[in-house]
Amino acid sequence: MLPKINPEQTNAWQNLEEHFANNDFELRELFQNNPNRFREFSVQRDGYLFDFSKNLINDQTLELLLKLADETELKEAVEAMFIGEKINETENRAVLHTALRDFSDAPLMVDGEDIKPLIRRVLAQMKDFSGKVISGSHKGFSGREITDVVNIGIGGSDLGPVMVSSALKHFKTRLNVHFVSNVDGNHIAETLKSLDPETTLFIIASKTFTTQETMTNAASAKDWFLKKGQPDDVAKHFVALSTNVKSVKEFGIAEENIFEFWDWVGGRYSLWSAIGLSIVLAVGYDNFEQLLKGANETDNHFRTADFKENVPVLMALLGIWYRNFYGAGTYAILPYSQYLDRFAAYLQQGDMESNGKSVDRNGEYVEYETGPIIWGEPGTNGQHAFYQLIHQGTELIPADFLAYVKSCNEVSDHQDKLLANFFAQTEALAFGKNEAEVIAEMQASGKSSDEIAKLLNYKVFSGDSPTNSFIFSELTPFSLGQLIALYEHKIFVQGVIWNIFSFDQFGVELGKVLAGKILAELEAKGVISSHDSSTNGLMNYYLAQK
Ligand code: F6P
Repeated sequence: MLPKINPEQTNAWQNLEEHFANNDFELRELFQNNPNRFREFSVQRDGYLFDFSKNLINDQTLELLLKLADETELKEAVEAMFIGEKINETENRAVLHTALRDFSDAPLMVDGEDIKPLIRRVLAQMKDFSGKVISGSHKGFSGREITDVVNIGIGGSDLGPVMVSSALKHFKTRLNVHFVSNVDGNHIAETLKSLDPETTLFIIASKTFTTQETMTNAASAKDWFLKKGQPDDVAKHFVALSTNVKSVKEFGIAEENIFEFWDWVGGRYSLWSAIGLSIVLAVGYDNFEQLLKGANETDNHFRTADFKENVPVLMALLGIWYRNFYGAGTYAILPYSQYLDRFAAYLQQGDMESNGKSVDRNGEYVEYETGPIIWGEPGTNGQHAFYQLIHQGTELIPADFLAYVKSCNEVSDHQDKLLANFFAQTEALAFGKNEAEVIAEMQASGKSSDEIAKLLNYKVFSGDSPTNSFIFSELTPFSLGQLIALYEHKIFVQGVIWNIFSFDQFGVELGKVLAGKILAELEAKGVISSHDSSTNGLMNYYLAQK
């Protein structure tokens, strides 16, 4: 079980509050006063560098944050997760996505059963099946090879595979993998327009196999397929990834086409499970295994490294410093890699569905802030869109910058230009441009003192916008696995310290239930009067205009 400690009531929290009130950190000063700051506030690991020196902290801040981790019993919580205790208490489940990428022989028991052989069995099934589809030996109903795969899923059954398939495009197999998630019929319609039922394989990905969007899209996919194929042909073109074997069979998918996973895999932590089948088809089984091994490398680091050098722990503590003491409501994820174009979207679910909670592990409302809003886009595009607000707006927005030393495609001098922007932005955010610098610059360009006085305030950059920088050697399946797991564990650590349950998601229920009720009313087509005047008005307008 996880500890149930109110972080605000720890000594460390009180001391952090005092420390925050007594210090006004300026990055210029912090760097000037300590020539070893980069060395002292960075961690170099296998394949990457994590530089957290451009944060509004000193030695004492870090010490107090580490004490907060100790007082909230983080070490014990980490162990509880890895050994399979039912830390998802509100759903009475273990949380073992880490087991999915643990290739050791050590048994791991859940409810009296060793889950390792189960994991190996499904991995073998994924390897075998993907091998046949990729090689072309698995044929469609008319004897033609499969050319296109459509993954139908949403949330955790979509975002992870979408993000990874996009990130690893460079490692692509011959198959074209598509993703349909939205219940908006345009999503599936546009996807199917260019496809042929004879050469298309559908993956129905749903942990529960009850999700409205996925079930609706799956039914439409089947209708589309049956315009050309026969019911008996479904077996060659539909597979399912689910914990709900019974409902999958009822849908008409053959038992041998079911890739199982288990209730101890949370939806937003499921890309490592059978939910990763679309990834396997997109990049091949060996690359998928490398992804798992990369994540496992981070798991071992997270479980064993001293918290002082423990990257996910440091990431989490810094996030807490800004969220709870500086009051930062959002957190930006800024990858300087076009391949990571879906990374922030993926982390939005990972982080916000996990830590967007306001009741603590004692069942009480929290009196401190929990999960921030996560957002971001790849650099350099973001620079020409929203960076203005980070540089000169009124919000403090901490950000993670991510980049790779080597590009998968060395195209003239693109990589140096990309990285030059990365370095320039983190430098500008940290150190800004003060009045003296602006005046000197304007004088040098021949501006009059009147002009300078008029423009001065607009041209000043206050700086002191905190950033973490990650530089990985290269984007490979292994390093991507390392990176994703860093964020998973960051989220876990923050949830532990905030004393909330990170692995349930009751907040998505209400809208789902209401949508079901409203759908029945829309289908009945009468005048709607059972809601508030706004909802009635909107529904009646829709029905009248339809
Ligand atoms: O959005 C809520 C949610 O339950 C997510 O946690 C989950 O990833 C998603 O729906 C999809 O659920 P399923 O895989 O059961 O279709």
